[in-house]
Amino acid sequence: MNWHEKIQEKYQQLGQDPNTYLAGLYHSKPINYWDYIEVDTLLSLQKPRTNFPDEFIFIGYHQITEIVLRLAIHELEQLTETQEIQVFLLKLPRIIQYLDLLISSFTVMNQGMDYEQYNQFRLTLAPASGFQSVQFRYFELYCTDLEQLIHEEIRKTLPKNLKIEEMFEYVYWQAAGKDFKTGKKSLTLSLFEEKYLKNLINLAYRNQHNNLRKRLKEFEKNGLLNEELISLFKSLDKKFNIDWPMVHLQTAHTYLGSGKEEKAATGGSHWEKYLHPKHQTRIFFPELYSETELRNWGE
Ligand code: HEM
Repeated sequence: MNWHEKIQEKYQQLGQDPNTYLAGLYHSKPINYWDYIEVDTLLSLQKPRTNFPDEFIFIGYHQITEIVLRLAIHELEQLTETQEIQVFLLKLPRIIQYLDLLISSFTVMNQGMDYEQYNQFRLTLAPASGFQSVQFRYFELYCTDLEQLIHEEIRKTLPKNLKIEEMFEYVYWQAAGKDFKTGKKSLTLSLFEEKYLKNLINLAYRNQHNNLRKRLKEFEKNGLLNEELISLFKSLDKKFNIDWPMVHLQTAHTYLGSGKEEKAATGGSHWEKYLHPKHQTRIFFPELYSETELRNWGE
């Protein structure tokens, strides 16, 4: 069948006159790069709140990160819908490639802005913080079980049958803004939860039997887990949970200092401790590591 015949058949099956569609095709304008990619929209989205030129870089790079995370999550989403090992072998390297992109490009933040400018425009941003980037939290919920996002010391003390909603009160990121004695939360944290907690809870329910860790365990149970796959899972885990946090933390040190010199962050956390992977011990696939590796996580 040639294209003309295929078009006839397609629209006849839909009960439509093919000639109307062919006439529409004849009259339609050619598509342009700028319309398809939405270039003008994209370039209109950087809206600095001060006159410091480097705030533009700060906004632009955060947006790049969000887009790259979106692409990675697009792959993760598909992995939660398949049990095919070949698809994992294809898509895990893609996700790792996105993480490499984020890790290597973080120099844009560390070296691409003027120290004095950053430390002035950032004062206009409180209580906003990268902490409120929901895609980082989505990424985690595609990769592992919610309980893995609760620090081991706290996890041990919790009843086994907590509901997902209740577990969110103990996830590691609460430590950035919650006083565990009084239960009081910082403005940064409460505004984040007001906006996104429902979505996070829904995603945690959706993924509770379908996340990457669950798939990994199934592969293992069925004797399918090979060296290549193990190394890909570990690489994803370490890049997201150690390498990116470390380049990010180094940048925080560059701008906010350390020790006695430490400046308050816009999100108000005790950031030097909070952001360190050693402190968070966020590990997606703990079964893949030796005791020593687990003990030295993030060293
Ligand atoms: C000069 C650049 C940056 C500095 C100095 C910085 C600093 C900080 C600090 C101090 C925190 C702790 C929370 C708070 O109290 O505010 C934080 C959290 C966070 N930031 Fe950044 N940040 C920078 C760039 C970025 C970029 C480009 C992203 C990408 C979206 C990002 C994403 C995050 C995330 C996801 C968290 C939460 C981390 C976690 O919960 O483990 N940050 N940042």
